[in-house]
Amino acid sequence: MYMNRVNLVLLVVLCFFLGGCAKEPNQAVNIIPQPQQVEIVDGSFSLSSKTVINIVKGANDLQSACTFLSKLVEKSLGGALAIESGEVKKNAVNIIVDLSMKEDAYELTVTDNSVDIKGGSSRAVFYAIQSLRQMMPAGIENGEQMNKIRIQNVKIQDEPRFSYRGGMLDVCRHFFTVEEVKNYIDILALHKLSVFHWHLTEDQGWRIEIKKYPELTQIGSLRKQTVIGKNTGKYDGIPYGPYFFTQNQIKDVIRYAADRYITIIPEIELPGHALAALATYPELGCTGGPYEVCQMWGVFPQVFCAGNEKTFEFLENVLTEVAELFPSDMIHIGGDECPKDAWKKCKKCQKRIKKENLKNEEELQSYVIHRVEAFLKTKGKKIIGWDEILEGGVSPTATVMSWRGKKGGIMAAQKGNHVVMTPNDYVYFDYYQSKDIKNEPLCIGGFVDVAKVYSLDPTEGLTPEQGEKIIGVQANLWTEYISTFSHAEYMLLPRLAALSEVGWTASDKKNYNDFLNRARLLTQRYEALGYNYAKHIMQKPVGEMQNSENQ
Ligand code: ACM
Ligand code: ZN
Repeated sequence: MYMNRVNLVLLVVLCFFLGGCAKEPNQAVNIIPQPQQVEIVDGSFSLSSKTVINIVKGANDLQSACTFLSKLVEKSLGGALAIESGEVKKNAVNIIVDLSMKEDAYELTVTDNSVDIKGGSSRAVFYAIQSLRQMMPAGIENGEQMNKIRIQNVKIQDEPRFSYRGGMLDVCRHFFTVEEVKNYIDILALHKLSVFHWHLTEDQGWRIEIKKYPELTQIGSLRKQTVIGKNTGKYDGIPYGPYFFTQNQIKDVIRYAADRYITIIPEIELPGHALAALATYPELGCTGGPYEVCQMWGVFPQVFCAGNEKTFEFLENVLTEVAELFPSDMIHIGGDECPKDAWKKCKKCQKRIKKENLKNEEELQSYVIHRVEAFLKTKGKKIIGWDEILEGGVSPTATVMSWRGKKGGIMAAQKGNHVVMTPNDYVYFDYYQSKDIKNEPLCIGGFVDVAKVYSLDPTEGLTPEQGEKIIGVQANLWTEYISTFSHAEYMLLPRLAALSEVGWTASDKKNYNDFLNRARLLTQRYEALGYNYAKHIMQKPVGEMQNSENQ
């Protein structure tokens, strides 16, 4: 009896000891954007160099997702994971593309034996891999050596709230290299964004090679000098350019984005913001010039002449090459900030107004947009444009990008147009992110901190039916005052993390304090990736950050 009792006590102690050693405590699962459903399960999976990526049921474009995962852990584990196909097995990341699921939906199940990913498409599998990535230690991002990577057992069911989750980069005011643009795309991919909006033409520079018009990138991509600060009247005296992307470079970037399941929407600005094109071909402006590639910032009255057939011939030739180059079904045609002064004084423009029975110059702008839209339709493309395209009437197949607040987007959704919400007061990342502007790099103005971004409700003020017209959200990075990519990163991060959650997570699952805790952890990954991120959310207690929403 006595011995039995001792044995029993020993057994209990032994079990406790072994159990304590074998079982690590469960880890919280911290993912941005917050998945729709996360259930933490006891135990963990050990990913090692012996783990294989096993395609159980594939799809044509699945290879990129598998390669991404394989390479993600390559440095840390001392070898890329093998990619195989076969039945579901142990010590594998088993992947199934299940076409009966919603296209962007995925399930990620981690058990002691395996990681199982099911997605409605290869893109959805890629999203699952991004979630898995955020469950691994940040050290994988810079190749910290690890024998095994422990991944918490979990069941995640997830899908995005909106299909369009975008980031715009202006490469015209300041130019960024192919490598930097790829870095930007990497940042979008980490945050599960789906669209890269590439702003390629402006007053201050034309940045895309057009084979039919080589002068565009000889003349239009070079400005004599750049104004210092905010149009101070003082100039740096340093030629800027010629800087542009060749069509081969663009094809390379499109492939890079496609490998990350990101669609690129190119923007060719018309009829305003056209000075770089006019400097090259002055006959396309109302006065015939001369014009210069612009050396300062703002909105300028020199725009494409809407009365001149040559303008349309030029735009159609440019857009033909753009449509052939980019596989996206939408092309951004700008449409914003087009002063009408030149058109009012131009004989050709006034003749067009009469001939086409237009009421005024606003309707002339609408004529231009409609004509370009009809042309792009012959190339199998739809248009997307800034909310000014609503003025003078817009066709039902145009997508409206609401930037002057949410107003334009609300009006467009009420009319039945598709809308991308990109209101300047929430998602203009060229705005200040702190009130302490003395300690910030020069910004265009405004105030958009992380809390403000997070508070955006893209369907506010709309009925459920109208809300369906909101296809998504986008952050915009205009670069008048951003001349290096490191500075661009500072403006993007971590505000892009907040934007990603606005675009992905159901509104009833959003929680700002919880987001902040996850965002702070995500900065460890930013550190490992070498990103230059803004540290404001690290400095203030959570409660205080939330109050900044009401400032
Ligand atoms: C814009 O910010 N002008 C679209
Ligand atoms: Zn004109």
